[in-house]
Amino acid sequence: MEISGKHALVTGAGAGIGRATVIALVQKGAKVVAADINEDGLKETAALAQQAVSGANVVTVKADVSTAAGVRAMFASATAAFGGLDIVHNNAGLICGEPLWPEASLEKISAVIAVNLGGVAMGTQEAIKALRARGGGAIVNTASVAALQAMPTDPVYSATKVGVVRIVESCAGFAAEGIRVNAVLPGMVDTDMTMKQTGDGTRPAAWLAPVIASTVMLTAEDIAVAVIALIEDDTAVGQAKIVGNVGRDYK
Ligand SMILES: NC(=O)c1ccc[n+]([C@@H]2O[C@H](COP(=O)([O-])OP(=O)(O)OC[C@H]3O[C@@H](n4cnc5c(N)ncnc54)[C@H](O)[C@@H]3O)[C@@H](O)[C@H]2O)c1
Repeated sequence: MEISGKHALVTGAGAGIGRATVIALVQKGAKVVAADINEDGLKETAALAQQAVSGANVVTVKADVSTAAGVRAMFASATAAFGGLDIVHNNAGLICGEPLWPEASLEKISAVIAVNLGGVAMGTQEAIKALRARGGGAIVNTASVAALQAMPTDPVYSATKVGVVRIVESCAGFAAEGIRVNAVLPGMVDTDMTMKQTGDGTRPAAWLAPVIASTVMLTAEDIAVAVIALIEDDTAVGQAKIVGNVGRDYK
């Protein structure tokens, strides 16, 4: 798919991978709706997009993807912003962090499932309907390499990412309508999620610190490159595209 001139929605766009994807999309000539629960983060993303591309067309929408009402309102705003959507990147995510399983609060577990799995499930469904109205398009959902193996420190996060992969694989048939649904599976990326949220909100988890010290961390921009490639590659259907780190073991 040629991205230039297309209309895109990116969730979790107030930071990290979502922000990098917004910037990559405007650099490719797309008009972008940047959605997140964090309004300050969205303002920063919009400013950075302007820095990257003067006159970049970015509309920010405060949205909570963990609720049906939030997803419905987000798609209503996003489709109204430019008159329909061609590209949707369901990317918002949370991790349980510390205290680790089985001490994590039930509220935290519930929130991680609601955002990572519920948000992507609802976001994929609404995206298919929105793209259908335009005769096709591309959906990229952010999973994780945590979908590929057991994750004793955060089984709930891992399980939600398995679910994201399965949703994508289950939606391969929509390619017949010109709607391609794919997933990107990042390894360990240098974002707030890894560097703060895996721990107590200010630092990486204690178990993760030695892994971070011994690995080459990916950047959010590395993942945005993979997202763009999945959008542009018309042969990519139901793929789970791994973007791994060199020389590291996710466990
Ligand atoms: N950082 C990594 O190492 C890594 C690895 C694999 C997968 N991922 C996945 O990449 C995605 C992006 O993560 P990131 O690393 O950029 O983290 P991040 O914390 O920098 O960004 C996540 C964004 O999601 C937003 N968000 C959280 N809950 C939301 C909600 N209810 N509604 C709307 N937005 C909400 C946050 O406000 C934040 O801006 C996530 O799905 C994450 O699971 C990250």
